[in-house]
Amino acid sequence: MDKVVVSVGGSVLIPGNNDSEYISRLAGMLSSVKDEVQLAVVCGGGRTARYYATTGRELGGDTYQLDIMGIAATRINAQLLGVALGDMPERVPETAAETARASEPGRIVVMGGTEPGHTTDAVAMMVAREMGADRVVNATAVDAVYTADPRKDPNAEKIPRMTIERLGELVYKEHDASASSVFDPLGVQIARESRIDISMVDGRNVEELRKAILGQPFDGTFVDSHN
Ligand code: UTP
Repeated sequence: MDKVVVSVGGSVLIPGNNDSEYISRLAGMLSSVKDEVQLAVVCGGGRTARYYATTGRELGGDTYQLDIMGIAATRINAQLLGVALGDMPERVPETAAETARASEPGRIVVMGGTEPGHTTDAVAMMVAREMGADRVVNATAVDAVYTADPRKDPNAEKIPRMTIERLGELVYKEHDASASSVFDPLGVQIARESRIDISMVDGRNVEELRKAILGQPFDGTFVDSHN
């Protein structure tokens, strides 16, 4: 049975309207595949994390403090998904190792962040490394990696498949310029070292997300870490 770690971006999990409708559909889909693939899900912080980051910064909070609050937001989001899955953890696993230990076929383990200094994309990679997972599926609010920023460049094209080296070049180039990177550079580094493929898919499209989780062809970007 394949092992898959899903990194669900906070803005996907909490779209901002009809949140319970989306979360319920996501949970239904995850439950429907849990006997086909062994699943762990890492939740992002989304608008909840942003609120605490913005307000905390205005109050003079430092990066470490903002990260701590961001982690708390990711964990409460994981609990929200847990509610929808019918299995809310009273205490969310706090390390990648803890999630890997709790993971077993037929059981969906949910978690959020671990410690300051990275994002939940990197956490998903750490969990994948611990579990010996076959792939990480990154469910984001964009439908693929593009040759350029599609909001600024009308000639930007979707990249259906790329190597991990190419993704590495992309994230390092944009890292300073943009607050929200395609994928956490630390996550890319772990993927390259541990040879874990990444499937980037629009998580708002639950059917495409399902295909990516099952390892079927999907609409998005497949990042190959095996060449
Ligand atoms: P996210 O993983 O949601 O970060 O964690 P993000 O990339 O900023 O959000 P998206 O993907 O664009 O929605 C939210 C915040 O929580 C802290 C960081 O401050 C991060 O920005 N965090 C999260 C940590 O410090 N460590 C973790 O392990 C996870």
